[in-house]
Amino acid sequence: MVQGPERPARRRRRARGPAPARARRRGPARARRDPRARHAHARRRPTRPEDRHVPRPAREPAPHPPGRARRETLNLFSYTGGFSLAAALGGAPRVTSVDLARNAVDAARDNFALNDLDPAAHGFVAADAFAFLEDTAGTTYDLVIVDPPSFAPNHKAVRAAEAAYARLNASALRQVRPGGLLAAASCSSHVPMDMFLYLSESARQARRPLRLLEVRHEPPDHPSPLHFPEGRYLKFVLALAE
Ligand SMILES: C[S@@+](CC[C@H](N)C(=O)[O-])C[C@H]1O[C@@H](n2cnc3c(N)ncnc32)[C@H](O)[C@@H]1O
Repeated sequence: MVQGPERPARRRRRARGPAPARARRRGPARARRDPRARHAHARRRPTRPEDRHVPRPAREPAPHPPGRARRETLNLFSYTGGFSLAAALGGAPRVTSVDLARNAVDAARDNFALNDLDPAAHGFVAADAFAFLEDTAGTTYDLVIVDPPSFAPNHKAVRAAEAAYARLNASALRQVRPGGLLAAASCSSHVPMDMFLYLSESARQARRPLRLLEVRHEPPDHPSPLHFPEGRYLKFVLALAE
């Protein structure tokens, strides 16, 4: 094909080379000149997925890593079933929730239904957790969660509370299958307590060595003032039971 002489503007563009990526992203020429047009351009071309009105599935399936999350779970002191729900939505085939307060157990059952989980596939027990552990000795789980109320109302009660936590977690640990998990929490706000110390004692009593996997505290939605150490009272330990 025979080409005519190159126009001057085209020749200048060719001499400059390709436009840099940043300039190319700045939108049409009118938007660059007129700020109102720039905003109109931004409105017409939303970048966030939620602005694009893309229909989403009503409920996205929970992530479910195979072989990791399908843990039969016992949740002691379950209250309205927060940990139970997390376990079931994470793939636990059966979660047994135990709390002394019947209305808390009923609320946990309702919460399963509200989350499209069949309550009939899970256990909801209104009972004393200590008695439950005694009555079901020999039954084992892949994950046992222990989140009791505070046992130490004051400094004088600390030693007795530590011994009680140690005994409770030892009983819970006996019901963890080899290679399973113990999730132990403590919410003793009045006095600091060494969870590692009493969980070591639990491991000794149950003759089941524990390996520390994770330690957690208050999440960002539960911030406490820096000058108020008593506010940092939630402790959570996840340990692997041999
Ligand atoms: C720290 S809260 C548990 C919070 C729960 N894990 C959650 O994530 O929402 C303590 C719970 O223990 C229950 N509780 C107190 N004494 C109990 C006992 N002896 N046996 C079973 N549950 C008990 C209370 O009713 C309360 O729901």
